[in-house]
Amino acid sequence: MKKTALIIQHFLLPAEMKVLEENFRVIRLWKERDPEATIQENKKNIVAVVSSLLPVSTTLIEALPNLEIIANMAVGVDNIPMDVARARGIAVTNTPDVLTDDTANVGLSLVLALARRIVEGDMYVRVGKWQNGPLPLGVSLTGKKAGIAGLGRIGKAVAKRLEAFDMDVVYHGRSKQEDQPYEYYEDLVEMAKAVDFLVLCCAGGPETENLVNYKVLEALGPKGFLVNIARGSVVNEEDLLIILRNQGIAGAGLDVFAAEPHVPEALLTMDNVVLLPHIGSATFETRTEMGQLVVRNLLAHFDGEPLLTPYQ
Ligand code: GLV
Repeated sequence: MKKTALIIQHFLLPAEMKVLEENFRVIRLWKERDPEATIQENKKNIVAVVSSLLPVSTTLIEALPNLEIIANMAVGVDNIPMDVARARGIAVTNTPDVLTDDTANVGLSLVLALARRIVEGDMYVRVGKWQNGPLPLGVSLTGKKAGIAGLGRIGKAVAKRLEAFDMDVVYHGRSKQEDQPYEYYEDLVEMAKAVDFLVLCCAGGPETENLVNYKVLEALGPKGFLVNIARGSVVNEEDLLIILRNQGIAGAGLDVFAAEPHVPEALLTMDNVVLLPHIGSATFETRTEMGQLVVRNLLAHFDGEPLLTPYQ
């Protein structure tokens, strides 16, 4: 008899879904009329959960007595209560590396879009404003300073791209990385004061929650831009709204929000923001590789083989 896998969010592409269905009895939770009842009916059989960004709640984990593995189709695992999973001996896998380049490219796109008013410019042409005069000037990237918060895999890929645009890169993180050529700032406020672009690439979760607050944004100042490709939880959204409304920073490029897919209403009418629907890894190639990792991790686990990308 096939083992049962519960998928909580629609992320896997058809090819990977097919392989999953060849090997498991699959429950697509978003298609169930009464998800709670489905979980209750199948709780003893569900041995695997496939998630992506939606929370895998403690309540869900506790409801599944035979759960062995959570395969997260994302590099971040801030949607999973790791302490609960660890205490139960439940394996957790994520999808690192395969999404690094695409996510870094979205970070770079936001930097460019803000500096050169790309989205604003598109709108300017479409609504016919060009007939009345030119778009206000943007700012040059050459020689500007970018501060990366979280110099992990994605942060490093962003740094490499920014350097190619002749920008000076510095970083902030939990600790100095001796093998990195960039200047390290232990204090985020100090770094924000020094940079023109603050690019958030750190992991989400309690450690970084509201890391970017009013003080940091104030330090970034009226000529500074914020780019967030990390998690919405890293920025205090209330503080961001206040500072944007008062032109306390020059603008913000956001791929992530605190309560996705909800985006604060106030942001929708602001000119100095570029808003994206969390598309860091959203290419066909990368989502295919992420899905393959999810499926291979599940198969490896139930074959008693080592996991490909266990989250430690
Ligand atoms: C996306 O945000 C991810 O964590 O993979």
